[in-house]
Amino acid sequence: MNKRLFQTAIVVGLALLLYSPHSLSAQELKPIPLLTPQMDGGRPLMQVLKDRKTSRSFSSEKLPLPVLSNMLWAGFGINRPDSGRRTAPSALNWQEIDLYIVTMDGLYLYEPKEHLLKPIRLGDVRALTGRQPFVKEAPVNLIYVADFSKMGHTASDAEKEIYAAADTGFIAQNIYLFCASEGLATGVRALIDRPTLAKAINLRSDQKIILAQSVGYPKK
Ligand SMILES: Cc1cc2nc3c(=O)[nH]c(=O)nc-3n(C[C@H](O)[C@H](O)[C@H](O)COP(=O)(O)O)c2cc1C
Repeated sequence: MNKRLFQTAIVVGLALLLYSPHSLSAQELKPIPLLTPQMDGGRPLMQVLKDRKTSRSFSSEKLPLPVLSNMLWAGFGINRPDSGRRTAPSALNWQEIDLYIVTMDGLYLYEPKEHLLKPIRLGDVRALTGRQPFVKEAPVNLIYVADFSKMGHTASDAEKEIYAAADTGFIAQNIYLFCASEGLATGVRALIDRPTLAKAINLRSDQKIILAQSVGYPKK
């Protein structure tokens, strides 16, 4: 094995170890370094658009770390490192939408600059991410949270809500297209008990839950 391959194997192995639910205890919810996104993958766009759909039935099989890494980058990663701009547009480039990731292990925040998942809290809160029963089975539920503190002082709250909803839609569609390309199931959701979820994930009053989106493999 050459040196570069060996180093890659160590990094992947370490990341998979950190991602494993069996290695966790209360003190051990650690940051998950995501893998460098593979930008040469994916099916042709027109075929992906043909297959895009909402699913409401999920296998409990976990998403492998490379898939999760690619999906988050596709959703709202940094695609122009020089300027820090992202794969989805945002009003005035505020980049106000934060992606919270809920798995059976706990709650994480996607940090696009470091391309890692920052641990927020241990424990399975998947059932709180929506009012529909399938949400507790999906291995990943994304929560789109608008941080109004990043949206300047000139826009009214009503305008901020419109921009945040639009900006979330672009990210959610990126996730839809990635999932269609990869044969994953996904569904964006508004049916959420927002006050309960906001409390569970400890949001400030100027952080607003816009939508959630479940992702996983289709149930066989
Ligand atoms: C803003 C928005 C909110 C939605 N909320 C929910 C929801 O709470 N639960 C759900 O099962 N589907 C939800 N959906 C999915 C729609 O029901 C779905 O997109 C629609 O039925 C069309 O189906 P398709 O996506 O397969 O084309 C939502 C879609 C959007 C755009």
